[in-house]
Amino acid sequence: MKGVILAGGKGSRLAPLTKIFNKHLLPVGPYPMIYWSLFKLKEAGILDVMVISQEEQIPLFQKLLESDQELGMNIVYQVQPEASGISDGLSYAKPFVKGEKFVLMLGDNVFEDSLNPFVEAFQRQDRGAKVLLKEVADPNRFGIAEIDATRQRILSIEEKPEYPRSSYCVTGIYFYDQEVFQYIERISPSDRGELEITDVNNLYISNSQLTYDMLKGWWIDAGTHESLHEASAKMFETMKKKEGSE
Ligand code: G1P
Repeated sequence: MKGVILAGGKGSRLAPLTKIFNKHLLPVGPYPMIYWSLFKLKEAGILDVMVISQEEQIPLFQKLLESDQELGMNIVYQVQPEASGISDGLSYAKPFVKGEKFVLMLGDNVFEDSLNPFVEAFQRQDRGAKVLLKEVADPNRFGIAEIDATRQRILSIEEKPEYPRSSYCVTGIYFYDQEVFQYIERISPSDRGELEITDVNNLYISNSQLTYDMLKGWWIDAGTHESLHEASAKMFETMKKKEGSE
């Protein structure tokens, strides 16, 4: 399986930190944010990765990651001309994934769980897509899934709902087959002017091809000042715990 990391966007909720600096290069614990997605992919045995960002940002990622002798991953870089949404960013990965199933990660999602069991489950899944859910206290900020837990099915996903139907957030860790690129062609920009990943996931739902799993450990979308701070604190805590158990 291959990995795609989206590391673009305006980062407006993190201004002024993001005025001249890409969000995914800001510190989370002792590493620039993008490292945590790379570490999760590496742990799951996914070493072929595409990093997608805006043109002026790509040299920064290259400088950082190409000078890292220890990482041991094959990273390629792809320009997304405008920050026009997750689905738009993903569309540029089509030639890279070349017919394989793949994992898409939003580079600002920082979390505790290993990806291994989910990667294995998706390998066994015949076709379609899989999302990972997490219960959150602030569902208005995210894509929210209405689920039928007894039948293990997602009924619908709503992007940043005013009146959320549940507190299950669709995290920025997605597993897709090749169908995703056809679905992207079928969607139109949302009110915020972006090609939404939620619209793509709803097309999978309408074809009964979207499965889900729950994340057990902590998960943070580090896209705001408070959550960036929290992600750092959690990461230091988790690293200490790991050191203590080794
Ligand atoms: C994006 C997705 C949303 C998802 C979230 C997870 O939101 O659109 O569905 O729940 O990432 O981090 P955005 O960061 O674009 O506001």
